[in-house]
Amino acid sequence: MAGSPIIFPRGREIVLGVSAGIAAYKSCDVLRRLQDHGFLVTVVPTESSLNFVGKATWQALSGRNVHTSVWENSAEVSHVALADRADLIVIAPATADLISRLAQGRADDLLTTTVIASGCPVLIVPAMHPQMWLNQATVANVELLRKRGFTVLDPAVGRLTGKDSGIGRFPETKIIIDKVLELSNSVAVLMNRKVLVTAGGTIEPIDPVRYIGNRSSGRQGLAVAYEALRAGAEVTVIAGQTDYFELEGARVLEVETAEEMLELVEAEFSSHDSLVMSAAVADARPVSSAEGKIKKESFTKIELLENPDILASIGKLKRANQVVVGFAAETESNLVELGRDKLVRKGADLLYVNNVAQGAVFGSDSTSGALLSVDGSSEFFDNVSKHEVARRIVNGIAKRLELVNG
Ligand code: C5P
Repeated sequence: MAGSPIIFPRGREIVLGVSAGIAAYKSCDVLRRLQDHGFLVTVVPTESSLNFVGKATWQALSGRNVHTSVWENSAEVSHVALADRADLIVIAPATADLISRLAQGRADDLLTTTVIASGCPVLIVPAMHPQMWLNQATVANVELLRKRGFTVLDPAVGRLTGKDSGIGRFPETKIIIDKVLELSNSVAVLMNRKVLVTAGGTIEPIDPVRYIGNRSSGRQGLAVAYEALRAGAEVTVIAGQTDYFELEGARVLEVETAEEMLELVEAEFSSHDSLVMSAAVADARPVSSAEGKIKKESFTKIELLENPDILASIGKLKRANQVVVGFAAETESNLVELGRDKLVRKGADLLYVNNVAQGAVFGSDSTSGALLSVDGSSEFFDNVSKHEVARRIVNGIAKRLELVNG
């Protein structure tokens, strides 16, 4: 693996904000139940909430570092990093003060700064005494937040801390989790699906030192793996030679040669709903790999043998309820025609054909091309990020899986 690192955060990320209400202790259970559902949670408490539940508890329960201020981890610009990777922000409990700060658009601690820096859905779970919830200021703040697209749960009615009772109780964990699932389902189009992705180039040894390889960086395949994780899928990556990457949350199997890749794809395919064959498989390999380094004088020719076509052979094994995605790189102007031909020939449901006529796609973060579907539709991309294409592929897989699974 070579090149600059590509850091892939985990999919299904939740930021759990905790503000200073006694119900903070109940949020420990919310965190646990979120983890039971496969969510990956970073806790961001407000400084004063630590009076109720301390950092050590949150760190132990979440298995992640916990910060309250943007100044604690300034080199990492935590609020931007957290905001970028969050698929959902849940604030439980949300006090009257926190609701007021959010309504004002304030950014005076790590939690409020993260909220304002993010574009993901935000679920607010208020808990406070009835007078505070019914106070005109709170009522107006909640109305404003709802108008801006925040989901604000109504607190439950019942016994509160101290002697009073009424509206203001922290809702039952199940109500919160159901709401989280409802909000995340709208983005988690591959929830409960298993996706197998091949990425990078295969290398075919000539001798212990030399090999036949290609310029594939694996970026497109890894972008698909990342977007699939983000969409809720369980992801297995079979990686050939790629740029260095971190893909937390995925199962990664490393291979070198086309034959190793074929063996693993064949072993894994039947337990997955979808295969995305984005690896650049070497078309041929040396007939044999020399045991010792071939001397310079005799290194004059390499006899080649055709490699198996993994996509074509898997296309034949495919069950009706599985979805297979292929890739192609073409320089000709009849891109779509060539792509369609390949899609049919290799038995794929979707095929992304890269237009490599205008230069770099290999090793680049952007791509131009067309996403073709067996249903006859095509979608065109002009110099967009590989993640954009990956998101379209993930949506295409989800749509087709729904269709073929009834
Ligand atoms: O035939 P061509 O190499 O253009 O086809 C590209 C598609 O076929 C890609 O999805 C690639 O992963 C797959 N492929 C394969 N095995 C090969 C060659 C290509 O699975 N030996």
